[in-house]
Amino acid sequence: MAREKWGTKLGFMLAALGSAVGLGNIWRFSFVAGNNGGGAFLLLYIAFIIVIGVPLLLTEVSIGRKAQSDVVGSFKKLAPGTPWFLSGFFGVISAFLILGFYSVVAGWSIYYFWKYVTGEFFTQPAAGYAAVFGDFTAHAWHPVFWTAMFMAFTIFVVLGGVNKGIEFINKLFMPILAIILIVLAFYSVSLDGAAAGLKFLFYPDWSSLRDPSIYLAALGQAFFSLSLGMGAMLTYGSYLSGENKLPGATLGIGLVGTSFAVISGVVIFPAVFAFGIDPASGPKLVFITLPGIFEQMPFGGIIGIVFFFAIIIASLTSSVSMLEVPTAYFMRIFKWSRQFTTILVGATMFVIGIVVSLGFGVWSGITPIGNNNILDSMDYVASNILLPMGGLSMALFVGWYFTKEQALQAADMTDSVFGGVWYKVVKYIAPVMIILIFCQALGII
Ligand code: PHE
Repeated sequence: MAREKWGTKLGFMLAALGSAVGLGNIWRFSFVAGNNGGGAFLLLYIAFIIVIGVPLLLTEVSIGRKAQSDVVGSFKKLAPGTPWFLSGFFGVISAFLILGFYSVVAGWSIYYFWKYVTGEFFTQPAAGYAAVFGDFTAHAWHPVFWTAMFMAFTIFVVLGGVNKGIEFINKLFMPILAIILIVLAFYSVSLDGAAAGLKFLFYPDWSSLRDPSIYLAALGQAFFSLSLGMGAMLTYGSYLSGENKLPGATLGIGLVGTSFAVISGVVIFPAVFAFGIDPASGPKLVFITLPGIFEQMPFGGIIGIVFFFAIIIASLTSSVSMLEVPTAYFMRIFKWSRQFTTILVGATMFVIGIVVSLGFGVWSGITPIGNNNILDSMDYVASNILLPMGGLSMALFVGWYFTKEQALQAADMTDSVFGGVWYKVVKYIAPVMIILIFCQALGII
């Protein structure tokens, strides 16, 4: 059977953008930035996106397009008989880990959406939003039910295939998402007291750069929010053919994706400050703090409905790209049908989701890393370690395994004035920076 393909180049761009923009921009960015000092973190994150993220996005997509295969298969095909294919496993493993917890958080969002639609969250429940969130997430099966629903949506889209499933929903949802986020950002900025939030987000407090952990956090966030290092972009690139030129498309995806990240910050932080809430309240910021804020806003209930709807569609356009990574891989090696593979992989991820969900209830005492619960530990390993490792190996592959001509040709950079710069970044600058940040996080330097 012929390999599936995107219908149009725009379809690919929207799908890649859909993969990038998700819980990473809204839920993860807000607490990672909140915990790491705001403005200085934002600048560091944007610097990493420009210096490492966008060049690696081009690298990742170009490997997939050249090889026309999945994360593992691409390395096998381009470097037969070498161990390079092992780097593809970082991607497959991180897809299971990240979608495992991502589906739990997305499931919470569906629950919140539902509570807003029924009007129950329009006003604070008697016990308070914090207690309601705590009780809900600690329950043995209530959150699992919503996780299952989110996984079912994700599986349903991926069952439709590249064209009729993934491309279709991205063309539908990405424009809607853009409009919703921009409207919400204007609304948030118009609140009295919003200035403090904008200041927190945009005015760097340089002293926070003295904290060594901010660098790994910003690197992890740059990878997570651009969907880099997992092979999602590689797999999406493998559904492109040679006539679609990559540099402009990947630059566009990088820039628009990052703007979405900044706009999401503009939605959240002014509102957080306008209502005098500590920005460093952690992963629960979106689920406890924001409902409290919506309640005090004019038309807050409606804002709640729209906001959680936006989170759900943003999550779905990302989760399908994560499910596609192992699905494409298993379909090839076992020659299984798309139907069977998607359901099997999706169901396995759901089982991981159950474990993550129980980490908020009966298993809340389990703290694999430091005092982080199961979700935070998996996020730490996958986002701060596996994704940058995956990105590092792709950079090394294109920078050192390919000749310069092959690298430039794979990325359509042969005639570009930026070709030389891009190549140096991929060969030296990005790998050195990633390695330095790892060493620094390990306390070696
Ligand atoms: N970029 C997605 C987000 O921000 C998450 C993601 C990571 C998707 C890695 C695919 C691969 O929500």
